Amino acid sequence: MKIVIANWKMNPLKFSDAEKLINNYQIFKNVKVWITPPNIFLLSLKNKFKKIIFGAQNIHFEEKGAYTGEISAKMIKNIGARFVIINHSERRKMGENLEMANKKIISALEINLITVVCLGEEKRIKNLSQLKNEWSKQLNLLFKEVNLIKNKNRIIIAYEPTWAISTYGQGSVPREIVYYFINFLREKNIQSKIIYGGSVFKENIENYLDLPLDGFLIGSQSLIPKNFNRICSLITSSKKQSF
Ligand code: PGA
Repeated sequence: MKIVIANWKMNPLKFSDAEKLINNYQIFKNVKVWITPPNIFLLSLKNKFKKIIFGAQNIHFEEKGAYTGEISAKMIKNIGARFVIINHSERRKMGENLEMANKKIISALEINLITVVCLGEEKRIKNLSQLKNEWSKQLNLLFKEVNLIKNKNRIIIAYEPTWAISTYGQGSVPREIVYYFINFLREKNIQSKIIYGGSVFKENIENYLDLPLDGFLIGSQSLIPKNFNRICSLITSSKKQSF
């Protein structure tokens, strides 16, 4: 079974459009669709689409208090979220850093919320040893004081370099780099699931289907059901299933 996370970001504008999106998603064998809608739709969608796993796109690391505009891990869990994306590059663009992400990871794990942790280089790095240094640096900060072995089933690592997000139009990560990334984590004995995100389209998904990935994190294309369904159908028909 592969996990395909539909990260809707700040879309759509209306609840009825959110319902429509889901109604137009098809169900595929061996593909489990998880959705991160805007928080304002989370509870109602959860009540309506009982079989879908919903999550949040972000949390604050404190449980409650004077943090205007924020929402905590406990709050989203209380309304039915099963997971949260942490350290998305669009959050970092808004000024968040890896130390904050580390605190968020700890607060989510404390209440058994699955944490999908984004990690990846900001700008394109071609040199492999520089790339590995960058990944190591991020890993150390993100998972400081986190027991990766004990929490292996509660953590999903999303390799999603900032530069590869579709809004920048620079394309997706070459397949062999994704493969290096997977090996890099496995050599460090990190056993969590690994997914890939960044400009995943129906035209390029096949590049990644023979890799030992556990799924994908999909932004823009999750808002276009026809394309999203095509991506999921290509995943379904790929022969390799990683778990
Ligand atoms: P994209 O976004 O698929 O539009 O590149 C991925 C993401 O930001 O999670």
